[in-house]
Amino acid sequence: MNRYLPLAILSLAILAFATLLLVIAPGMEIAAQPVPADLHPYSEQELRGREIYVSLGCVYCHSQQPRSPDQAPDGERGWGRAAVAGDYAYDAPHQLGTMRTGPDLQNVGARLPSEAWHLRHLYQPRSIFAWSIMPSYPFLFEVKDSPSKGDKIVDLPVEYAPGSGVVVAKADAISLVAYLKSLDRTYPAPTDSLRDDGYSTVEAETK
Ligand code: HEC
Repeated sequence: MNRYLPLAILSLAILAFATLLLVIAPGMEIAAQPVPADLHPYSEQELRGREIYVSLGCVYCHSQQPRSPDQAPDGERGWGRAAVAGDYAYDAPHQLGTMRTGPDLQNVGARLPSEAWHLRHLYQPRSIFAWSIMPSYPFLFEVKDSPSKGDKIVDLPVEYAPGSGVVVAKADAISLVAYLKSLDRTYPAPTDSLRDDGYSTVEAETK
């Protein structure tokens, strides 16, 4: 076997073809997706909250990708219309997730807009749902004997309140909640040009 040159050229051609087909073509297709007009870039505080979301691994239990009605009843669960590529225009790295130990969070900001609710839930999920298996994040909060002006005090039932003093949200908790509240892709989906079967996700939603 001494036909090294043709062998090398053939291997490189196969590799180049595969890269074109599996990396470059999909990349170009996704880059051409329109950014929905109602999708706003994250503010600095929301981006900080997003970093905390990533670092705490919320993605291990929460997806951010409601599916179309022909795949799952996500719409009936109140998680919103099926996600489209443009919804993630400002997300890097995206937090699509694969596990749904907890609800999908793609539209949690629209579903649960209360900052006080989120702060209490993050401090102790079981203070809201006794059955919750979500971890609590007490290190995002501190106990203060006398809160200063402007402190966000977490409203807790007696059994979860500290013996003395009050639970106050740290800056990280406030940023994380700002990020959660920004999760709102309830605007109508731009027609999804990735689909060529004439099936629009907007129509699917109203079926
Ligand atoms: C071990 C799995 C797990 C992890 C990790 C986890 N969660 Fe949850 N989460 C759940 C479960 C289960 C629920 C449903 C019960 C509840 O609301 O507490 C939930 C509910 C929620 C809800 C309410 C959603 C709704 O529609 O009712 C929010 C918001 C939320 N989680 C945010 C977070 C954030 C932010 C993080 C990371 C800091 C996180 N979760 C980490 C399991 C998890």
